[in-house]
Amino acid sequence: MVDEKKLRRMDMKVDSWRMRVKDADDRKTLDEVFDRETLMSVYKLFKEGIFDSVDFPISTGKEGNVFKCSGPDGSVALKVYRISTATFKHISKYIVGDPRFGGVQKNRKKVIHMWARKEHRNLERMTSGKVRVPKPLYCLNNMIVMEYIGTEEMPAPLLKDVFVNSPEEVFDDIVENLRRIHDVGLVHGDLSEYNILMDGDTPVIIDVGQGVPLEHAMAEEWFQRDIANITRYFVKLGVEADLEGVIKRVRGE
Ligand SMILES: Nc1ncnc2c1ncn2[C@@H]1O[C@H](COP(=O)(O)OP(=O)(O)OP(=O)(O)O)[C@@H](O)[C@H]1O
Ligand SMILES: [Mg+2]
Repeated sequence: MVDEKKLRRMDMKVDSWRMRVKDADDRKTLDEVFDRETLMSVYKLFKEGIFDSVDFPISTGKEGNVFKCSGPDGSVALKVYRISTATFKHISKYIVGDPRFGGVQKNRKKVIHMWARKEHRNLERMTSGKVRVPKPLYCLNNMIVMEYIGTEEMPAPLLKDVFVNSPEEVFDDIVENLRRIHDVGLVHGDLSEYNILMDGDTPVIIDVGQGVPLEHAMAEEWFQRDIANITRYFVKLGVEADLEGVIKRVRGE
């Protein structure tokens, strides 16, 4: 049974964000994310005790929105995929050819739910291989709940936004994470300084929804692109590395 009073309180909380968000584009984003159905799913997570408050939006992107929430054991991050044509277009190309997902389904909503499940599973698989990613906690419809990286006030910054004190060490750390991702048979597929959080000096790999198994038709191309992106970034920071050498290291050769 839905507790109407609780639901109303939640509606109010969402409304208060809307009022706080001054920028018109952001307001539109929040309105679109919390459609009635998503609100019901968020409510279900409340009821199951996954978290008891949604504290603030961390990021409002074109396809996904991430919120910091407080749960019984501390903070968690909630990622909500928008049920929109843009999201659908973006993800279809990654799901085609992934044997774990069989035939691509026509139903937009179902595909987006499947996409959230895929990110959750990729996080599980990477966690099992000791890759430093946010620990996956829960997955429901178009949402995933995971470990929150950051402090009570501030989410951890992206690699692209920090001054890196010891680029060699951070680069080594990332290469080791890539080796472990490869070890569990996956390719990240969208790796760059935009999808790595810095938890102090420790890089944390995020946004693994488009990750594909090594047998995927695009796996080799995306594997090389990931490594090229990150190597290019660190070479700019003064690290001496050649692409072929890094690729070999990641393959464990
Ligand atoms: N577990 C987390 N803890 C703290 N912050 C997070 C976490 N996961 C994601 N974020 C923040 O949310 C942002 C968006 O997350 P993510 O990269 O997974 O989604 P996205 O689909 O790429 O969205 P966008 O299009 O906005 O980049 C990240 O850039 C990061 O700042
Ligand atoms: Mg991202």
